[in-house]
Amino acid sequence: MRFGTDSHHGFILVEAVSHSVAGDDPLGRALSDYHRGEREEPLVDRDGAETREQPVERFYFGEFDPKSERGEWLRAWLSGPLLDVGAGAGRDTLYFQDRFETVAIDMSDHLVETMRERGVGDARRVDMFALRDAFERDRFQSALVWGTQIGLAGSMQGLQEFFGDPAFVTTPDATAVVHGYDPESGPIEELLGYRPDPTPGLAYRVVHSTYENDHQTLLFRLFSPDRLREAAVGTGWEVAAVEHAPSESSSSYYAALRKLSSKQR
Ligand SMILES: C[S@@+](CC[C@H](N)C(=O)[O-])C[C@H]1O[C@@H](n2cnc3c(N)ncnc32)[C@H](O)[C@@H]1O
Repeated sequence: MRFGTDSHHGFILVEAVSHSVAGDDPLGRALSDYHRGEREEPLVDRDGAETREQPVERFYFGEFDPKSERGEWLRAWLSGPLLDVGAGAGRDTLYFQDRFETVAIDMSDHLVETMRERGVGDARRVDMFALRDAFERDRFQSALVWGTQIGLAGSMQGLQEFFGDPAFVTTPDATAVVHGYDPESGPIEELLGYRPDPTPGLAYRVVHSTYENDHQTLLFRLFSPDRLREAAVGTGWEVAAVEHAPSESSSSYYAALRKLSSKQR
């Protein structure tokens, strides 16, 4: 909501805005303040009485390590031009943009600004669920969606629709990497905000984040790798490889997708 005074009529104007404004972007503001050395409060995720402080530096500002398991995997599956979807503070784009053209998108104005200040050459405010409005057909060779934000697709149908957008903006032989939580692996019940679902391979996660006066509640759908495979059917993608984090430490996994050839579709 935005409040202001209409000078002609002298009444208070209340305007609903769909994008991020001060007050509803705790992650973006916390990362931006951290980057500028102005952060005084923690970024806190809550579920009821349970809370977790996000280790902002470790999660978002570490350097991309090309020799790590994750780094090697991403380098093997991604090539340019690359679209970094929900790029955060730009950790991965800062590495890949030195190798090939990389475009970083995020919905947070604070994060787009932070990425530019950190040296990201092409950072834009674009909604990952409206890629066709922002980019032409076949624009990218690869897409990276790192950070479990695919869960914001909300449902199997939402995920299927989401796969359709990167399919449009990438070439016929494109690849993509997505990152999620597997409801069927690791200590999933320890994940803050986890909510079970009796349907195999599906769950929810609900997290309320706060930073100073900024608040945001996010609802994630969690999809197992098999559910990812199912959602990919008919979108032009297939799940080509799946890698789990060591199962005792985390339920997170990453999946590589590649385009099906025209014969396979
Ligand atoms: C967990 S962070 C991951 C950031 C980065 N990829 C990383 O690994 O450090 C999720 C990111 O997705 C962004 N995001 C959430 N919804 C989005 C949307 N609809 N379109 C684009 N970005 C979005 C958030 O602003 C946030 O930067």
